[in-house]
Amino acid sequence: MLFPKRFSCFSRNIGTHRQNRNIFWNGCKQYQVPRSLSIKQAPSPQQFDGETSDLYARVFSQHYDENGPWKKMVNAAEVVLQNNNAPKILDLATGPGEPGTLLAKRFPEGKILLTDISPDMVEKATEMVSKNGIKNATVKVMDAQDLNGIDNDSIDVVTCCYGFMFCPEPEKAFAEVSRVLKPGGFLIGTVWVRLPFMIMLKNIMESVLGKTPPPPPINPLSMAEKGLVENLVESADMEIVDSMEGEYSFAFGTEPGSDPELAFKLVTLPTRSTLIDLAEESIPNAFEIAKTAYERELKTEMYCKLQTNGGIVTKPNCFKMFVAKRR
Ligand SMILES: C[S@@+](CC[C@H](N)C(=O)[O-])C[C@H]1O[C@@H](n2cnc3c(N)ncnc32)[C@H](O)[C@@H]1O
Repeated sequence: MLFPKRFSCFSRNIGTHRQNRNIFWNGCKQYQVPRSLSIKQAPSPQQFDGETSDLYARVFSQHYDENGPWKKMVNAAEVVLQNNNAPKILDLATGPGEPGTLLAKRFPEGKILLTDISPDMVEKATEMVSKNGIKNATVKVMDAQDLNGIDNDSIDVVTCCYGFMFCPEPEKAFAEVSRVLKPGGFLIGTVWVRLPFMIMLKNIMESVLGKTPPPPPINPLSMAEKGLVENLVESADMEIVDSMEGEYSFAFGTEPGSDPELAFKLVTLPTRSTLIDLAEESIPNAFEIAKTAYERELKTEMYCKLQTNGGIVTKPNCFKMFVAKRR
């Protein structure tokens, strides 16, 4: 067995989380779409720039949660790197800078390259690296599907937290990861499996459109389909050596003094560009309809709980972390 002891901590989680999920989500349908559709609807880089990057930065801090992905990814990197204290690590789709920054702190003798397709995100990640006084990390604009400029067989560990699902051609991203990894190097990735607030968003968009909405342009669940990640890993000449599922909730706009509109903006973030287009082109009151539907959905308490200041806490979200080894 490749990862006998320490990885078993990941696998142990699966049973517990599955039980929890069944209690919470019995009967709930996931806002999930066929792969072909989700890939066609993948976002352009601009969809993560501008106001979206600011709103996304609000969601970002949620992933520091004890049960969130980043600590688990850093732990997984420690396990796979064993005694290598000066690894070369590539963080894809780093957004405002994680888990790359945590990895740079954990491996001060290593070299960490943080990358993202959005120049606005790269600016935020650069700020994060410099705010933390980190000297062993660099930040670059880079498309995960084209790692041109990174040598073959040169990286010990590639990380990608919630990034592959936004690539229009994820098979290219996995092939590039395999190309740049050293033989025997590791990919540590995370994808969303279940996001209860996306069901709420689907209901909201159904009210706006008067029919079942198409998949959102930014679809965080586009890699939730069972077996999809595993097939992509296999077809890129890598093998899954471990995987786990974990759960944590989001708290949107719950801090004292938060903008009362913030929770609404964050829930509708994946369809923000669609709402803007609809408001400009065909449904001038698209945002008002969405807001009324949002308030209606809140009352059901099926997907989240309203707080006294207008913020919300979502029912637990579920992600999958996988560790793959290059053959
Ligand atoms: C949900 S964020 C994840 C950010 C961060 N890794 C985290 O854990 O929160 C998704 C990021 O993927 C980036 N992205 C989208 N398409 C990409 C691509 N083709 N190549 C690289 N990054 C991409 C976006 O700009 C965005 O910053």
